[in-house]
Amino acid sequence: MIQFQALAQTYGTPLYVYDFDAMKEQFEALKEAFRGRKSILAYAVKANSNLSVIKNFAQLGSGADCVSIGEVRRALMAGVPKYRILFSGVGKRDDEIREAIQSDILYINLESEGELARVEAIAKELDVKARISIRVNPNIDPQTHPYISTGLHDNKFGVEIDAAKRMYIHAKNSENLDAVGIHFHIGSQLTQLEPIYEAAVIVADLLRSLQAIDIELKFFDIGGGLGVRYDDETTISPYDYAQAILGALKGIDVTIICEPGRFLTANAGYFLTKVLYEKKNGSKRFVVVDGAMNDLIRPSLYNAYHRIEAVGKTNDVSPVDVVGPVCESGDFLAKNYPLPAMEHNDLLVVHSAGAYGFGMGSNYNTRGRSAEIAVENGEARLIRARETFEDLIALEREYL
Ligand code: LLP
Repeated sequence: MIQFQALAQTYGTPLYVYDFDAMKEQFEALKEAFRGRKSILAYAVKANSNLSVIKNFAQLGSGADCVSIGEVRRALMAGVPKYRILFSGVGKRDDEIREAIQSDILYINLESEGELARVEAIAKELDVKARISIRVNPNIDPQTHPYISTGLHDNKFGVEIDAAKRMYIHAKNSENLDAVGIHFHIGSQLTQLEPIYEAAVIVADLLRSLQAIDIELKFFDIGGGLGVRYDDETTISPYDYAQAILGALKGIDVTIICEPGRFLTANAGYFLTKVLYEKKNGSKRFVVVDGAMNDLIRPSLYNAYHRIEAVGKTNDVSPVDVVGPVCESGDFLAKNYPLPAMEHNDLLVVHSAGAYGFGMGSNYNTRGRSAEIAVENGEARLIRARETFEDLIALEREYL
């Protein structure tokens, strides 16, 4: 049991708290599902990019899926070996491509023919062969929120099968490209196995047709996306997930790469916020708290549900909007949420906040971002200090 009240007392609120043991358990459960197969779990750093969180996974043998050169640097700093680091993303700058090649990471995931040309040109300048993989857009509806659906032709991600084939053939004939992998990622918070299976079958078929023309790839990268339970969702078990992928591969000898983010961190994270006061506008009840959309934007952006626990309260509940101090009507952590009567300084714990919480935070309204705490073996420690006003203005010039 995490002592939320004591942590709020010691470190103040708003506050992010991560259960490192729970993160490890999730990692081990997924790793176990792929046991007996060559596989790499490459933690999707975007889900929670705190260096200590990445290090926690690196110590278990995790790789890292990165979407900016900043994330690649974080992964290297946190001790992820370069040969388990991937660089994905739909738009990479030349300087990012150059540094990724020079860092000698496992491969760069390409998402367009234009990007293939840039990577080839930069590898030529550096006089090396750049390892690449191609992200295929299998045109599959993942049945998730439209903002986090990525595997349809309507989405900006990846390339069509025909374009992918052209790119692999081009790479085979290039002195500066070494195609080692194939990649797909159809979306996030996936709770249906069928679309994942269908996408895997399409991409495995492409892999076979490439083999037929002597293009041998070592890595089959299935992306991330495994959903978690925020409320009462039925989720995909790691075992069923792995079996579906193996079923699609039907014995093709490749190393499976998986890029889980949310699955590893979401339910191991908590966002602690204190009540400032209750108010009513007409019959509408509001609880105003010290945390806001700049700390946790998921409710505002996706209408996402996060369970909220009123610590130490047991009295009758009635529906309330839990809102932050930011000057936007969209600044809420929950709408019509059943909570008891709240008083100044009561503590609320927002659950499932370990993925896409702090990382999507901002300084809107000149609010410093929260501190982050790790809890491991019953001990708590600060892994990122609370931002101060001085931190916020440190890069501004000419204001005097
Ligand atoms: N690999 C790729 C290529 C991705 O684009 C993503 C997530 C992942 C792996 C990790 O996906 P996960 O296992 O965490 O589902 N901010 C949104 C989620 C955005 C996901 C972006 N891509 C949210 O809060 O729901």
